[in-house]
Amino acid sequence: MTTPCHALNTISSFIPLVLAHHLLWICRLLFKVLQPGLRHIPEPWLAKFTPLWRIWFVWDGSAHVGYRRLHERYGPIVRTAPNVVNISDPAAINTIFGIGSRFTKSLFYTPFTVRYDGEVMDNILSTNDFDEHKRLKRSVAPKYSMTSMRSLEYLVDPCTKIFIDAMMDLQGQVVDLGAWVQWCAFDVMGAERKDVRNVIAGLEMGAMYMSVVGQMPWLHNYLLGNFTVGKVLAKITGGKGDLLPVVIQMVLDSISQDDAESAGKPARADFLSFFLHLQENSMEEMSHRDMVNHLMDNLIGIALRSVFYYLMKNKHAYQILQKEIGEAHARGKLSPYITYTESLRLDYLKSLTRLASRQACLKEAMRMDPIISFPLERVVPSGGVALCGAQILAGTIVGINAAVIHRDTDIFGLDANEFRPKRWLDKEDEARIKRIDRHLMTFGIGDRTCIGKNLSNMEMGKFVPQVLRQFD
Ligand code: HEM
Repeated sequence: MTTPCHALNTISSFIPLVLAHHLLWICRLLFKVLQPGLRHIPEPWLAKFTPLWRIWFVWDGSAHVGYRRLHERYGPIVRTAPNVVNISDPAAINTIFGIGSRFTKSLFYTPFTVRYDGEVMDNILSTNDFDEHKRLKRSVAPKYSMTSMRSLEYLVDPCTKIFIDAMMDLQGQVVDLGAWVQWCAFDVMGAERKDVRNVIAGLEMGAMYMSVVGQMPWLHNYLLGNFTVGKVLAKITGGKGDLLPVVIQMVLDSISQDDAESAGKPARADFLSFFLHLQENSMEEMSHRDMVNHLMDNLIGIALRSVFYYLMKNKHAYQILQKEIGEAHARGKLSPYITYTESLRLDYLKSLTRLASRQACLKEAMRMDPIISFPLERVVPSGGVALCGAQILAGTIVGINAAVIHRDTDIFGLDANEFRPKRWLDKEDEARIKRIDRHLMTFGIGDRTCIGKNLSNMEMGKFVPQVLRQFD
């Protein structure tokens, strides 16, 4: 039996250990606070000590406004965590993200890794290794090329039909258009007209987890990145608590459906099936990590929400677009399901000019709300870098937020805070339009640009005019 005296002795033997641990922690904190290279950069007081406060930005959905305010108050370079600075100077974009840049992705992307069959897998989005990135991209990028996407237009039409039929049935009732367009974009709606198996709800929870934990990525090792926690969660929730297994299960279900199809059952027409067929017909393997790219399809739904939001809030823009679609329809220029080529001829939805600008309304909505509204983060390579007049040491994380850059009045004009699609259509000023186009960060910039950009543009380019042609 343990006597009180023995217990006291045991506790006291731990005291030096606990003190040493605390001392180490204080030293590390002091080093972070006083580390050379960042001391001279303006900062909110708390940023010296912790990134914790940034979690609130993401948690309450105000990161876009929060970061704009930070830069208004502290200038083009702000320290937002002990080892992180954020930059709003457009001149830094190319240095950090430009083709051939040696800046690697920060640990922000760790929560996007996938645990499958007991292994943690990096993917195109998360990998930090240049060669691994090239290898992963080589196998997937051609499947998302514009040529490939054009041949896949027919996959968008059935979902658009389900959406339009449902809206016709529900005329006169209040519907959550945002939710509906998201179901439609993620191919989860089916005939049931709902978020089948709560995939969208799961994706939203997952997106929240990734954005919040991405602010303090080491937390991931103690949360969903931890095998034991993952196992316990799966037990408690019956496997429903973890987002990624749900989506991967959707993919596996689809594989089984494909197997059934080869046994003479009807084919499933969606993007997933298409990619699975491609895998069958080529020598290259489509791994589970490639399938995980499908998680990003949900972003198209969010972008569509933005487009409809800005169009509905801006009657003038809405009317111009409807008139343009109505006239093209009356002239017989639109097929029953509007093709991507036809949609590119709609000047206001998309610009007719040869300029870099296309998709005036769509581009403008995603300029106002770039969907990913927290900083894209990179790590400064060896040798350091000079940004905004400050010398920044190797290993420091630097981030640029599209939601800040997109409102820069020097680039986008004094009315940068207004939704004005016409800014993309000024045929007299090709140089200006090329310049604003170069600063659009909706799909990222450089080597790590979004591989789903063509898919997104094609889906949105077809869906928006199709819906507006049908409804006032
Ligand atoms: C409107 C919809 C979308 C938006 C706004 C969007 C935005 C972005 C952004 C900003 C990045 C760059 C991240 C960074 O540099 O840190 C990115 C990368 C990526 N996106 Fe998208 N995305 C969209 C749709 C999609 C879709 C549908 C897919 C599905 C294939 C996809 C797959 C990816 C992948 C795999 C990457 C990583 C690329 C790389 O690192 O090489 N995205 N996306």
